[in-house]
Amino acid sequence: MPSITVEPCTFALFGALGDLALRKLFPALYQLDGAGLLHEDTRVLALAREAGSEQQHMAHIEQELRKYVGKELDEAVAQRFLARLAYVHVDFMKADDYVGLAEKVGSEQRLIAYFATPAAVYGAICENLSKVGLAENTRVVLEKPIGSDLESSRKVNDAVAQFFPENRTYRIDHYLGKETVQNLIALRFANSLFETQWNQNYISHVEITVAEQVGIEGRWGYFDKAGQLRDMIQNHLLQLLCLIAMDPPADLSADSIRDEKVKVLKALAPISPEGLTTQVVRGQYIAGYSAGKAVPGYLEEENSNTQSDTETFVALRADIRNWRWAGVPFYLRTGKRMPQKLSQIVIHFKEPSHYIFAPEQRLQISNKLIIRLQPDEGISLRVMTKEQGLDKGMQLRSGPLQLNFSDTYRSARIPDAYERLLLEVMRGNQNLFVRKDEIEAAWKWCDQLIAGWKKSGDAPKPYAAGSWGPMSSIALITRDGRSWYGDI
Ligand code: BG6
Repeated sequence: MPSITVEPCTFALFGALGDLALRKLFPALYQLDGAGLLHEDTRVLALAREAGSEQQHMAHIEQELRKYVGKELDEAVAQRFLARLAYVHVDFMKADDYVGLAEKVGSEQRLIAYFATPAAVYGAICENLSKVGLAENTRVVLEKPIGSDLESSRKVNDAVAQFFPENRTYRIDHYLGKETVQNLIALRFANSLFETQWNQNYISHVEITVAEQVGIEGRWGYFDKAGQLRDMIQNHLLQLLCLIAMDPPADLSADSIRDEKVKVLKALAPISPEGLTTQVVRGQYIAGYSAGKAVPGYLEEENSNTQSDTETFVALRADIRNWRWAGVPFYLRTGKRMPQKLSQIVIHFKEPSHYIFAPEQRLQISNKLIIRLQPDEGISLRVMTKEQGLDKGMQLRSGPLQLNFSDTYRSARIPDAYERLLLEVMRGNQNLFVRKDEIEAAWKWCDQLIAGWKKSGDAPKPYAAGSWGPMSSIALITRDGRSWYGDI
């Protein structure tokens, strides 16, 4: 039996027929049910505004649940989960439609309202919930993207804040729910070995790569307005950077952790107009090969506009202006249609201060801590040892001390990020959610980049689908005398 107790709630999912709900949220709730982490009285309301009968929509949700849970689906759990589920037709903008919803929700249980809809309607949903008395005690969960810049994100946050206080507002960044991202906190603050070395005296630079093999996957309409900077850097990569760079929090409470993350975001050095050409690379994929198959370029994808200069790749060098990180560049890189799906953080330690081995081996000498977020979650520390053998003298070799989570905890399934996040909302624990000031500080930093790009008018650099991005992203790091870890 699970050691965690979760109170009963009514989980209302706005946008229940959308891709996110079907692909991630219902399967995550199903898994929580299977793990005994939904209270027996918890109910799930699927809210959508699409025409069609309740029966039809329920059948569709069930069919998609079976598809996305896949072979591991347990029929008894599926039946239990489906019995908790009801479909409610609601036009999110119409106050009258919420009367029926209020009757369905009742007043006995806490309401959790999850908005898997465009952020532009969050304010209206909040207002309508409040009109029918459903705002009190309710927790609201906001999906990303919240706005497309500082100003629009403030508008959304302010509209929500009129009805829901910050301590009942849960902003999702699903990377914070990933097992290995969670492990960053344990790795850093439960191992004195690392924390004493975690600064500019010992670390030379940090790399954060989030590469995706997929392209746009039918999401051109959304993606083209966003681009990779807004879609990935503003949230996922900056959150990873914060977890690596933040000072130790006083405790594990949500605000202690978030206070430290905000300090990092505020310490990010703005990128100067010259830096835009030397420190930042924007790319857009052209036709190429992915997993051995010919794939179209970004401008040839379904529903595309051939004129777009939206970036599908960004590499940049970020600098943090504080004592801990002065002079330690953080190289961030993310793109669609890369050779493989890979999210990885590499911490490069400095060379020993006094070098005594053969000069030709010097370049090899530096420890690296590699934190693999996906796939093959694990941590590996590359250490230097001596080659074995009488004839090897003091020849050095770099080898890994390795912890692979899926091998080590073979029996345990690694939960999807959304399972953890939904569970934490039900438990009322905000430390895996992004506070308003964090989102705003991240937007502020990204806005100056977007403004700089707009002003320069430069088009993104082309890169072939299936490659690691434009050549200039390699130049970006080699200019500093370094290279991306592991690139072929
Ligand atoms: C989402 C982005 O937030 O993260 C997508 O909108 C991206 O464009 C996805 O594909 C990547 O998530 P993951 O968990 O597959 O790395």
